[in-house]
Amino acid sequence: MGRIEDRVALVTGAGSGIGEAVALRFGEEGAVVIATDLHADTAERTARRIRDAGGRAEGHALDVTQEGAAAAVVTAVTADHGTLDILVNNAGAGSDTPPLELDLATWDRMLRTNLTGHFLCIQAALPPMIAAGRGSIISIGSVNGLTGLGEESYSAAKAGLVNLTQNIAIRFGEQGVRANLIAPGTIRTPIWAQRIAERPDAFDRLAGWYPLRRVGEPADVADAALFLASDESRWITGVVLPVDGGLTAGLGRMIADLSG
Ligand SMILES: NC(=O)c1ccc[n+]([C@@H]2O[C@H](COP(=O)([O-])OP(=O)(O)OC[C@H]3O[C@@H](n4cnc5c(N)ncnc54)[C@H](O)[C@@H]3O)[C@@H](O)[C@H]2O)c1
Repeated sequence: MGRIEDRVALVTGAGSGIGEAVALRFGEEGAVVIATDLHADTAERTARRIRDAGGRAEGHALDVTQEGAAAAVVTAVTADHGTLDILVNNAGAGSDTPPLELDLATWDRMLRTNLTGHFLCIQAALPPMIAAGRGSIISIGSVNGLTGLGEESYSAAKAGLVNLTQNIAIRFGEQGVRANLIAPGTIRTPIWAQRIAERPDAFDRLAGWYPLRRVGEPADVADAALFLASDESRWITGVVLPVDGGLTAGLGRMIADLSG
């Protein structure tokens, strides 16, 4: 018996990186995984990997920024499976354009991808969850949304997810729906491809900032998402869980300077 056996779980951005790892982990624990992505082929690839491992999964194209798109997928899923128990709002994309060069189109795209898209998916997922009297919504924010780490447009969107999560949690707790946010630190995924191409040692350099002395792996986030999806977290809602090797716990490098 898996930890989320027979739960119907929709994962956005499931074709790569963290979303793919979450989908695979959920499949291992018995969920019916609805793997969605902007790219239908990568969503289906993830679903196929789950099925090949003996799990249950289907792939769907879903661009979270398009009004009505998430609602259409949720309608299809509830028609086929009767319910939607878990939503993992993971789709996202970064931009490191500095503030003085940031044009409005980029700002709007970052807000739409990393905040508005999450809202549209939450809005679509809530009705079946409320009807069933249970649901777990997990959004993937970032340590960038918790403190000043640059990437202004991306980070502002991620900060917005903190408040959105809190409000969804307090409004819909009475109906059995929980909402929580994971704030990952640096995770080794394709989102870093361009920066790694420019600086191949970037992960090694970043590792020194983390108290646990390494960057994260997609599985580190997937295990945290599994906990928040499962009944093991049944009395936890409205929280931000940093999955960041201790990065946001304090100013470790400052302490090292003081003592060294
Ligand atoms: N990797 C990190 O260091 C890190 C750190 C903190 C937070 N995050 C967050 O984790 C999430 C996953 O990132 P990742 O590192 O796995 O990146 P990734 O690039 O490997 O995967 C992102 C996935 O989202 C999909 N996507 C992008 N725009 C979409 C849209 N409009 N609709 C649907 N799907 C879309 C992409 O096609 C891709 O499959 C993002 O929200 C990201 O901001 C990542």
